[in-house]
Amino acid sequence: MSALSVPAITLTRGTNGEEVLIPQLGAGTYKVADAEAEHVVREALDVGYRHIDTAQMYGNEAGVGRAIATCGLPRQDLFITSKLNNPNHRRDDALRSFEATMEALGLEVLDLFLVHWPLADSPGIDLVDTWRTMIEILHSGRVRAIGVSNFQPEHLHRIIEATGVVPAVNQIELHPWLVQSELRRVHAQLGIATESWSPLGRGRLLADPVVVEIAESLGVSPSQVIIRWHLQSGLVVIPKSIHRRRMAANADVLTFTLDDGRMAALDALDRDVRTGSHPDRIQV
Ligand SMILES: NC(=O)c1ccc[n+]([C@@H]2O[C@H](COP(=O)([O-])OP(=O)(O)OC[C@H]3O[C@@H](n4cnc5c(N)ncnc54)[C@H](OP(=O)(O)O)[C@@H]3O)[C@@H](O)[C@H]2O)c1
Repeated sequence: MSALSVPAITLTRGTNGEEVLIPQLGAGTYKVADAEAEHVVREALDVGYRHIDTAQMYGNEAGVGRAIATCGLPRQDLFITSKLNNPNHRRDDALRSFEATMEALGLEVLDLFLVHWPLADSPGIDLVDTWRTMIEILHSGRVRAIGVSNFQPEHLHRIIEATGVVPAVNQIELHPWLVQSELRRVHAQLGIATESWSPLGRGRLLADPVVVEIAESLGVSPSQVIIRWHLQSGLVVIPKSIHRRRMAANADVLTFTLDDGRMAALDALDRDVRTGSHPDRIQV
């Protein structure tokens, strides 16, 4: 049950001033049913993952909580992220649902809480108000860092200008078909860590001929090439698998490197293709 020796990234913003380190590789849990989440997360922890990504929307926080409670690992060794669900943006709903998240996860303090979607065009919702409630939760001391997900540059600028608090993280769809250069440039300027969701393009990138060719040239698998690309690009990455063998393979990426030519070939796959929803399309 020893931890993977993956690097960690220091979150420089959106914290209460303490040093918060996020392991660069974590395990995603989207589409893992609550009934199977305990087993899947226990397997991930057993393989050595210490960073788990869940969300109110996934309906599996209780299962993740059961894995945390039964795994026997010290709380401080784990990094747990959850996210505010779309119907919960209003202050009272956000505070109440945050308490439900903590109850389900069985935690006193969460490591990272994200606004799942900006909902910028949803009537009756204002992303600045939502961000103010997130800051209130941060100041309560029950979360170590706050951030956002699926925010576009204009959303980031709006909440920062209104509150002065910079999100620690923006978790966005990111993989070699959608390299998100503009957002990453804005994040670098603002000191926001970039976290890649659907890092394997939900599996679709595994058959990309360039990825396959690089994998064959190095004697590794396509998923390992892609995850290594995320790590070498300085991104936090949270691939999801329900299979222990794949979890282990996805984490076995520290014994090879991608040279500049291979990194450039993967960067050049960018074609602005999404496998998930565009942030502007998600409304309450
Ligand atoms: N913030 C957001 O809005 C947002 C949106 C989407 C996702 N996320 C987070 O990001 C995480 C990852 O994204 P994702 O789940 O959408 O997609 P992903 O990690 O890119 O891909 C997951 C898919 O790839 C398969 N897979 C994983 N490793 C594999 C391997 N080594 N070989 C072959 N197939 C493999 C999985 O199948 P099996 O499970 O059957 O192995 C699953 O079908 C999510 O789980 C969630 O935590 C966040």
